[in-house]
Amino acid sequence: MRIDIITVLPELLKSPFEASILKRAIKKKLVSVLLHNLRDYSTNEYKQIDDYQYGGGSGMVMMIEPIDKCISKLKEEREYDEVIYMTPDGTILSQGIANELSLKKNIIILCGHYKGVDQRVRDQFITREISVGDYVLSGGELAAAILCDALIRLIPGVLGNETSALTDSFQDDLLAPPIYTRPAEYKGWKVPDILLSGNSAKIEEWREIEANKRTVERRPNLLE
Ligand code: ADE
Repeated sequence: MRIDIITVLPELLKSPFEASILKRAIKKKLVSVLLHNLRDYSTNEYKQIDDYQYGGGSGMVMMIEPIDKCISKLKEEREYDEVIYMTPDGTILSQGIANELSLKKNIIILCGHYKGVDQRVRDQFITREISVGDYVLSGGELAAAILCDALIRLIPGVLGNETSALTDSFQDDLLAPPIYTRPAEYKGWKVPDILLSGNSAKIEEWREIEANKRTVERRPNLLE
């Protein structure tokens, strides 16, 4: 998989890909992540990429031309399955969307800034708009990092234990059950006996019950 990220703040997006699971996935060549500085595509001597909005109103708008130039250059080099725009008015990211996107070959992610992008960018180039939640970030970069993390860890071979993504919260529309590790008792606080029983059928049954309980209590909407 190849992910091209278009941003005005590439430095904000470096560190997530330089640590832990994402770094290892890149090193193993299971994914490549390329950052493109939108200012490099500015046609203006001041490297300007935004301008005042037509009709008046506060806040700058990202201009279409640098974005067009960057996306067109990438599309000349290869075909893309999706051109995603990170925006608070997009579809809320879910495990289902992450699963679907993790199967794509090439995607572009455009990070919004200021008030957002000229609507013509969205109309002409964007195939999907994604939000990471009902709150406003100062730019799309951290949202793009969240999206990349959620989908890269699903690419086969990225997680050491192949089954562990399958037992994540949300993979079966349920939250994950409680988990424990050693010691079996700490300051009098005990691990549930069933987990120490060695009876894997009973343990599975307990986990299912606990996952359901947790989902009913915390996120009943997942069961609708
Ligand atoms: N840009 C600003 N806020 C955002 C959000 N909540 N999701 C995606 N992109 C954003």
